[in-house]
Amino acid sequence: MGNLDGKVALISGTGRGMGRAAALEFAAQGAAVFGCDLNEADSAETVALVTKAGGVMEALAPVDLGTRDGAEAWVRAAVDRFGGVDVLYNNASALRNGPLMDLADEDWHFTIRNELDLVWYSVRAAWPELVGRGGGAVINVASIAARLGARFVGQVPHGSAKGGVLAMTKHLCATGGPHRIRANAILPGLIYTPETAPFIDDPDGPLPGILAKIPLGRYGQAHEVAQLAAFLASDAAAFITGAEIAIDGGDGAVAA
Ligand SMILES: NC(=O)c1ccc[n+]([C@@H]2O[C@H](COP(=O)([O-])OP(=O)(O)OC[C@H]3O[C@@H](n4cnc5c(N)ncnc54)[C@H](O)[C@@H]3O)[C@@H](O)[C@H]2O)c1
Repeated sequence: MGNLDGKVALISGTGRGMGRAAALEFAAQGAAVFGCDLNEADSAETVALVTKAGGVMEALAPVDLGTRDGAEAWVRAAVDRFGGVDVLYNNASALRNGPLMDLADEDWHFTIRNELDLVWYSVRAAWPELVGRGGGAVINVASIAARLGARFVGQVPHGSAKGGVLAMTKHLCATGGPHRIRANAILPGLIYTPETAPFIDDPDGPLPGILAKIPLGRYGQAHEVAQLAAFLASDAAAFITGAEIAIDGGDGAVAA
């Protein structure tokens, strides 16, 4: 028996990184997973990995959640396949970092679209399904960047978008309570994924300085975030809503 037995979990961005890790974890804990990604080949690879491990997963790809049509198509496909939605895990994102004055307006809009708009569209597409089910869980991936400025890289659009995701979570908590819909935010620190690998693996990069500030002295792994998300999706977290949970080795808790 798994903690997520009988639940239908929609996870965005399952093509790689934390989304792939979440698909594997949620399925291992008994959920029927419906993923999605912009990248068709990556998405198919994750479905194959989960299926090989004995889990239940299907996905829609390519799909762009930065459009209302894309998000609605994703939720519709999930409902057609699995009959409803119990968990919406808003994991997918794409961003552009850089020094403030080097970024173009287009970089700002790209980041807001692919980190904040896509959560809005996905929540709105899935909400009637969650209400119809008599409750459920929304889990939003924000970031430590929602709370703290970064000196090692320019993250003004990213931090602004993730701040929006964090604030949206509080409002979804308020709106969802009467429907027994819980909404929580996960705030990862530095996690090793294909997105961060080039930066973490760069022998001349700022990694040593970053790790020196983290009380646990290391970066995190995607499966560690997946386990936290699976807990928040489960009935063991039935009284947790509106929470923001950092998973960052203590990075956000200390000044320097
Ligand atoms: N890796 C870190 O250190 C870190 C730290 C804090 C927060 N986060 C957040 O965690 C989440 C996962 O990060 P990751 O490092 O695994 O990312 P990643 O880039 O490795 O994977 C993201 C996936 O989302 C998909 N995606 C992006 N935009 C999409 C769209 N519009 N429609 C559909 N799919 C889309 C991508 O194709 C990709 O497969 C993100 O929300 C990210 O902002 C990551």
